Amino acid sequence: MATAAAQHTARTPAHDARGGAPDTDAHQRAFDAAIAADERIEPRDWMPDAYRATLIRQIAQHAHSEIIGMQPEANWITRAPSLRRKAILMAKVQDEAGHGLYLYSAAETLGVSRDELLDKLHSGRQKYSSIFNYPTLTWADVGAIGWLVDGAAITNQVPLCRCSYGPYARAMVRICKEESFHQRQGYELLLALSRGTPEQHAMAQDAVNRWWWPSLMMFGPPDDESEHSAQSMAWKIKRHSNDELRQRFVDICVPQAESLGLTLPDPDLKWNEERGHYDFGPIDWDEFWQVIKGNGPCNEQRMAQRRRAHDEGAWVREAAAAYAAKHTHDKEARRG
Ligand code: 3HC
Repeated sequence: MATAAAQHTARTPAHDARGGAPDTDAHQRAFDAAIAADERIEPRDWMPDAYRATLIRQIAQHAHSEIIGMQPEANWITRAPSLRRKAILMAKVQDEAGHGLYLYSAAETLGVSRDELLDKLHSGRQKYSSIFNYPTLTWADVGAIGWLVDGAAITNQVPLCRCSYGPYARAMVRICKEESFHQRQGYELLLALSRGTPEQHAMAQDAVNRWWWPSLMMFGPPDDESEHSAQSMAWKIKRHSNDELRQRFVDICVPQAESLGLTLPDPDLKWNEERGHYDFGPIDWDEFWQVIKGNGPCNEQRMAQRRRAHDEGAWVREAAAAYAAKHTHDKEARRG
């Protein structure tokens, strides 16, 4: 069996054994062997163009979701009901910005620039998660987002810690730890409301009613309509299908809703002894595709705010670039 170092050499075009033009067949075989052996693909390894393109698409969409996802919750920072709640919410929204940064950095290792990715987001050529096109109408929505949206994100993202592409998998480890804190704070917030006055309980229930179905849509279309799942799973980018993860999430949420004293808004939700899972009612896929096409309740608002924030941040980017250039110039001058 080849050693890890020898395998790495075969996967790295700069070390082509024949010293000439890269032998794509040999590289493809080495890539396939690495995937089969559950090894990580690293930025300098040879990889098929389609694998690179799929990763850029998914990581970019993920990064965009993190930074657009700051908006619905930031809406409540100034109106948080206590200093403690405000501090927690501010930390959470900052974490999402950090997740965006790790993910844009992971995408950059594939040869795209952050400017290019942001440009694609701003011009509508790359997507962000459907979930962030819904409004946050009450304080309880902050709890529902933490419990359900971050809970769905964790269910989807823990398997991504084992993604075949090294930089993405490593970024996900830290992101998942922080998402767990986000999920817990949402659960704790909803529990406080659920055990509060009848009005607070009703507010928590209303938020759960509105966020439940969009949270199930976060996992993507059903498997038979998921364009990329089969190939992404063969490449071990995705480890489970959209429907598998959605089912896992439903199974986790039902007992948690009971502990919260809240009801999930689905009359068809019931335990299926034979399957060993909860059955649930039909998802409105028409709504999902409408939201993705830009016709959700907040699509226009989210994109307008994102473009405005980008334009207003131009001076910060210019100052950072000028500082970096000066730093490099001074360093070179010192070296003589
Ligand atoms: N919102 C928007 N677009 C979605 C979507 C959703 N919820 N689910 C699927 N899509 C899009 C896909 O991107 C694809 O469009 P494209 O070809 O233009 O990229 C199309 O619908 C078909 O879907 P597929 O199932 O074929 O796509 P994937 O195989 O890529 O699976 C996915 C979709 C499960 C979302 C997968 O990309 C994934 O796991 N991504 C990483 C996780 C991620 O992006 N999460 C964002 C959630 S929010 C978040 O993490 C922030 C946190 O703070 C809550």
